[in-house]
Amino acid sequence: MRFDLVSIFPQFFDVLDLSLMGKAKESGALTIAVHDLRDWTEDRHRTVDDTPYGGGAGMVMRADIWGKAIDDIVADSGCRVLAVPTPSGKPLTQEDVRKLARADQIMVACGRYEGIDQRVVDHYRSAGDLDVFEYSIGDYVLNGGEVAGLVLVESIARLLDGFMGNPESLTEESFEGNVVEYPTYTRPAQWRGLDVPEVLQGGNHAAIDAWRRAKSLERTARVRPDLIRQTDPQSLSNADREVLARYGWLAARDASQWDHVTVRPATLNDVEGIAHVAAVTFPDACPPEVTVEAQREHIENNLSEGVIASWINSSRHRVMVADFHGQIAAYTMVELFEPGEGPDDVPHDIIEPAPTYFSKIYTLPQWRGSGLSGAIFEAAIDDARPHAFGTQMVLGTNAGNKRARKFYTRHGWQTIGRRTFMVAGIENEDVVMVRDL
Ligand code: ADE
Repeated sequence: MRFDLVSIFPQFFDVLDLSLMGKAKESGALTIAVHDLRDWTEDRHRTVDDTPYGGGAGMVMRADIWGKAIDDIVADSGCRVLAVPTPSGKPLTQEDVRKLARADQIMVACGRYEGIDQRVVDHYRSAGDLDVFEYSIGDYVLNGGEVAGLVLVESIARLLDGFMGNPESLTEESFEGNVVEYPTYTRPAQWRGLDVPEVLQGGNHAAIDAWRRAKSLERTARVRPDLIRQTDPQSLSNADREVLARYGWLAARDASQWDHVTVRPATLNDVEGIAHVAAVTFPDACPPEVTVEAQREHIENNLSEGVIASWINSSRHRVMVADFHGQIAAYTMVELFEPGEGPDDVPHDIIEPAPTYFSKIYTLPQWRGSGLSGAIFEAAIDDARPHAFGTQMVLGTNAGNKRARKFYTRHGWQTIGRRTFMVAGIENEDVVMVRDL
């Protein structure tokens, strides 16, 4: 690959002799030809600029000088791509870099002052011999195009075959797959009271991959919402969507547009909405032998607005909601137990003391498969953690509810035993599952 870099400050490009770029030059994989634009001037002062037509501050680089330089370099090298750094160009992306890396040769015309006379770009674009690419490296103004030229050279060169010692590092980095990279750590494992995340210190590669992917998405949602907006929800896994829903990005299972959701602790204003979700969803969790009448009685006694308000008012209960434009789309309820206490319906001899009981998680049917359940589930666990008395979480779920059991298993829960769960006098066989808090 060959770059022809044209500038009035050719020394700027001396840094390309360093490190991997220097090695690539030495090996012949990369050729860098640096040209001093002033070599194409003819006056005593080697003038490359003049005052702007129409007035205004600063100087503009002359089309005639640039034209001669570009024509000569094209004639010598056969270059077909002209890249022009300018703050008014297209924001350079990894996708652009990938495309440009397919060229054999690229000329970079680095302007100074108020830029290059517009006719240079217009002429070469319309002449058709060169692909002209005006690009910006960010929404700020530099003194000239040289730094942006270096950015282009380095970002392209590192994609060339054999440039990187370990080509895998190319597939894992920021902007590959429209996300920014996950955070990285090295020894020491503890530094100034900060620990390297535990999962990275273990050897469970599937868990490490899942953690990294979640962190990547979390960071992208926080700092680059524009990248999430460009991503089709359909292209993401359920685990990905669970992470994004936590940060407010929600799309129904078969939708291709994102919508906004807020997962937050419940207030008394949410009681009516939670009661509605409870009444709509509770029957779904019941096995067929629980009659409609028994379901109704259970809802009236255990999921009324009064009962829900009492949870929200109690320091021993934590209630979270998913607020979708003012409507409640899902809710959770967690109960905190002190040492010696525990949920009545879980045998105390199979669980640790002071359990945190994940009592309820319900999501309206239209949001199933959207990632919302996973988002509110993990949010509720994080919300409970600082208030818990012990270190174990416990839940019970109907033994026949495979969908729910699979969901809990995916979130790190393990089955440790059974219990009987009563719905309006009807016995139900549940499994008891636990997870470290
Ligand atoms: N020249 C001056 N500022 C620039 C920027 N932000 N990107 C590309 N070229 C430039």
